[in-house]
Amino acid sequence: MKLETSRLDRFISQNTDYSIADTRLLIAQKRILLDGRVAHSIQQKVTKFTRVVLDGNCLKDLSPVYLMLNKPRGVVSATKDPKHTTVLDLIQHPQKDELHIVGRLDFNTTGLVLLTNDGAWSRRISLPETKLAKTYEVTLSKPLNDEYIAAFREGIHFAYENITTRPAQLEILSENSARLSLIEGKYHQVKRMFGFFQNEVLSLHRVSVGPISLEGLEVGQSRPLTPNELAATESHGPC
Ligand code: URA
Repeated sequence: MKLETSRLDRFISQNTDYSIADTRLLIAQKRILLDGRVAHSIQQKVTKFTRVVLDGNCLKDLSPVYLMLNKPRGVVSATKDPKHTTVLDLIQHPQKDELHIVGRLDFNTTGLVLLTNDGAWSRRISLPETKLAKTYEVTLSKPLNDEYIAAFREGIHFAYENITTRPAQLEILSENSARLSLIEGKYHQVKRMFGFFQNEVLSLHRVSVGPISLEGLEVGQSRPLTPNELAATESHGPC
């Protein structure tokens, strides 16, 4: 079954024995329902999440799922792993096999992990242009000072990829701890940014992604995002 967005007549021809031309007749006979409503045009869009029913038979029924998880230490941000517990192992959901992770955390990093089956949403959340801050609490092996704040605001050069990180906001909380907000997610980004100062990250915890905060969710637990949380991610558009 094809799951990309397509026109209704194309979807019907690709997923049933009826042709593109037959679809007009099926519509005229009111035999197709899209999300519970009688289809009225061959040009109607069928998306990944449109429920399509023909003559009472469901051709496609995939509902979008958006979950948050409080990841413990020592859990792999992967769907399968031969040795270790994965974030998917911690999820109980009937559609869990459809889910992918939005922004992985390292094995020993804890905190907020988002999971979804909606690829368009996860791409949006991850785009730096969407400007959704990923906020981390960090404990360091050496004391911090104001030089870090300026350097992170300016951007740190990563020689391997030859890129400079986008402006990041650092708030020093104590001699050895800070809160860091990034709008991007490069490989091991936080550790490499502090690595610029040869300052080792001892613990790393993601507390929020944009308007979605981990608060109130026990370690190892997951829950669906609320409609308000989802709507809040939509209001952060590219500028
Ligand atoms: N940056 C890191 O270095 N590790 C993470 O897990 C997340 C961001």
